[in-house]
Amino acid sequence: MPQSPSAHTSPGAVPTLTGRLKIQFDALDSCHQQTIDTLNLLVKLVDQLDQHAADEPVKRMARQIITFFGGESRAHHAEEEHLVFPPILQGLDHRLIEKVRRLQQDHVWLEQDWLELGLQLDAIARGYNWYDREALRQGTSTFVALYLDHIDLEESIIYPQAKRRLAERADAGAARTQAEQARRRA
Ligand SMILES: [Fe+2]
Ligand SMILES: [Fe+2]
Repeated sequence: MPQSPSAHTSPGAVPTLTGRLKIQFDALDSCHQQTIDTLNLLVKLVDQLDQHAADEPVKRMARQIITFFGGESRAHHAEEEHLVFPPILQGLDHRLIEKVRRLQQDHVWLEQDWLELGLQLDAIARGYNWYDREALRQGTSTFVALYLDHIDLEESIIYPQAKRRLAERADAGAARTQAEQARRRA
């Protein structure tokens, strides 16, 4: 007895290209929100250190910030380098290419800034008092400003452009050729 297609696959198991892109870009957007939340946490930590020494809640905040910028945030940058930037770099729009080059430069600078900040936060998280409050404040201010600028450029221009270019790559031609060949063989 013939089985209906739904007996083999649920509708969500075979997403369209646009469906897959939506999932990937939604995840990137959601990571931006997490980035903004974690940047706010960093600002809060710096403010609290102005008022009192690093207590347990401050150490916890430091650990949370380290976990995010040392892990998920790096994976997010790698995903952008792999998925988002190439379709624009392979295109012909020089203004957009220049913007992606800026974003790539930002990734390098953000990583360098994070390595400095991460050292200070690591000291705080471990209860050492050799961290430099003024350097932490300055570093945080530069890091937050660059990150917010970076996210703005990605969300306003680069993500929509990359998504459009990736969607244009829909393999519609190949699928139709395959369907046509199947009919010829029948
Ligand atoms: Fe980025
Ligand atoms: Fe991003």
